[in-house]
Amino acid sequence: MLEQLFRTKSLERIAEESAHNAQHGLKRSLKARDLVALGIGAIIGAGIFATTGTAAAGGENHLGAGPAVILCYVLVAITCAFCALCYAEFASMIPIAGSAYTYAYATLGELVAWIIGWDLILEYAVGNVAVAISWSGYFGSLIRGLGVPIPDWLLTATQSAPAQVMNNAPHVLGIPIVFNLPAILIVAALTWLLVRGIRESAHVNNGIVLIKLLVVFFVIGLGAFYVDPANWHPFAPNGWAGIKAGAALIFFAYIGFDAVSTAAEETEDPGRNLPIGMIGSLVVCTILYVLVAAVLTGLIPYTELGTAEPMATAFEKLGLHWASGIIAFGALISMTAVLLVFQMGQPRIFFSMARDGLLPRFFGRVHPKYRTPHVTTILTGVAVATAAGFMDINAVVELCNIGTLFAFVLVCAGVIVLRHTRPAAPRPFRTPLVPWVPILGILSCGYLMAAMPLVTWVRFGIWLVLGMGIYLVYGMRHSRIHEPVDEEAPAGFSDTH
Ligand code: ALA
Repeated sequence: MLEQLFRTKSLERIAEESAHNAQHGLKRSLKARDLVALGIGAIIGAGIFATTGTAAAGGENHLGAGPAVILCYVLVAITCAFCALCYAEFASMIPIAGSAYTYAYATLGELVAWIIGWDLILEYAVGNVAVAISWSGYFGSLIRGLGVPIPDWLLTATQSAPAQVMNNAPHVLGIPIVFNLPAILIVAALTWLLVRGIRESAHVNNGIVLIKLLVVFFVIGLGAFYVDPANWHPFAPNGWAGIKAGAALIFFAYIGFDAVSTAAEETEDPGRNLPIGMIGSLVVCTILYVLVAAVLTGLIPYTELGTAEPMATAFEKLGLHWASGIIAFGALISMTAVLLVFQMGQPRIFFSMARDGLLPRFFGRVHPKYRTPHVTTILTGVAVATAAGFMDINAVVELCNIGTLFAFVLVCAGVIVLRHTRPAAPRPFRTPLVPWVPILGILSCGYLMAAMPLVTWVRFGIWLVLGMGIYLVYGMRHSRIHEPVDEEAPAGFSDTH
C-alpha cells in the first residue's frame, strides 16, 4: 500500500508522453521575451489592483501593514524568487504541461502529486474567484463613473454584505437578494470563449501586457505628482505583525509566474528560456509593485484604502475622476487577462490528472469540433462563477494563497529529493546553491502560511481531507502509471489555446 502511495512516474515516461504530445503538433515557438510577457500577463491583476489596499488598511481577520505594504512586496518577491529558481529546474527538466503536479509525480510520488494537483485547484480556480470579484469592483466603479446606476445589492458578496446593503436589497420570502452579478457574468463570458477555443496567441498576449504596463505606468507617473509624504507616517502602524499579515495577503499579487512553466512544451530552448521567463517577469513585476505601493499609500491615508478598487478610490478622493476611469478600464483589461490564463490553466491540470487515471477520463475529454477540454472548462466556469457571486474576496485570497504556498513548498522539496534520487538526470537549468535555495524557499513559504488566520487553515485542512478521500476512493484504484503510454489518448490541448 505504502509503495503504491509513493510510486513515482519515471522521467523517461514523462518524456515519452511529451514526445507523444509533440507528434500531435505542439510547436516549440515561444522565446524568452514571449515567456516574460506570458508571466506578466498572468501576474499583474487583482493582487496589485485590489489586495494592496486591504493589506495596507487591514481587515476583519488581520492587521494592516500601512505604507509598509511596500516592504511586503519586497519580502514576498524574495520568497517567490527562491521558488522560481526551483520551478525553473523542474520546468527545464520536465518540460511538459501539468506544472507542479507533474514534477511531484516524478519525485515525491503519486500521493503527493495528487495532493498538489488537488491543491492547485486552490491556486487556479479559487484564485480566479478572487480576480472575478475584484474585476466586478472596478467594473462597478467604471460604469457608475459613466453615470450608469447599478444597485449595491448586485455588486456585493452575500458573505460580507453590510447590513445597509442587506436592508436595501429586494427580498424574496424574507431573504435579501444580494450577489455579485458582474463577477458571475465575466466568468460565464470567458468560459464560453474558452469552450469555443479562443486562440490566445503570444501576439495578443503581448498587446494585453502592453496595456497592463501602460496603466501601471500611468498610476505611478500621475500619482507621483500627488503624493503627500505625510501619508507615509506612520510607516508601519502595526509593526512586524502588520507587515507579516500584509505579506501573506499580497502574495496573491505574485501568483502566476509559475504559470510560465505550463508553456514548457511550447518553448524554444526551455533550459534557457523558462528560467528567464519566470525570473524576468518576477523582476519586472516587483519593481512595478513597489512603485505602485509607494504611490498609492502616498496619495491618501492608508486607512482609506480598504476597498475592492483602492486605486480608483484613491484617485477619486483626489477629485481626479477621469484618471480613476482610465485606471478602472486598465484594471479590467489586466484582470480579464489573468482570468483567461487561470481559467485555461485549470482544465490543463485536470487533463494531466485524467491522463494519469487519477481523475475520470471524462475530465480529459476534448471537444470534437473546437478541440478544447470543454467538460472541465465548463465545470470550472460554473464553480468559479457561483463562488464569485457570493463569496468575500479576502477569504478567497487567503485560501488561494495558502494552497499555492503549500504547492511551492512541495516543489522546493522536490528539487532536493530529485537531486538525491536522480543525480545524473540531465538538468538544462540547475537551481543554484542546492539545498540552500530550496530550503529558504520552504522556510519563507512556511512563514507566510503561518501568518494566515486560523479560519483559513481550517478551510485548507478540510479541502485536503476532501481531496484525500477522493484519492483513496478513486485515484488510487484507477492510476494508470503501470500501463504503457496510450497512443490513442488525446494529446495536450495546448495547440487550441
Ligand atoms: N497574480 C494574479 C493577480 O494578482 C493572480 O490577479
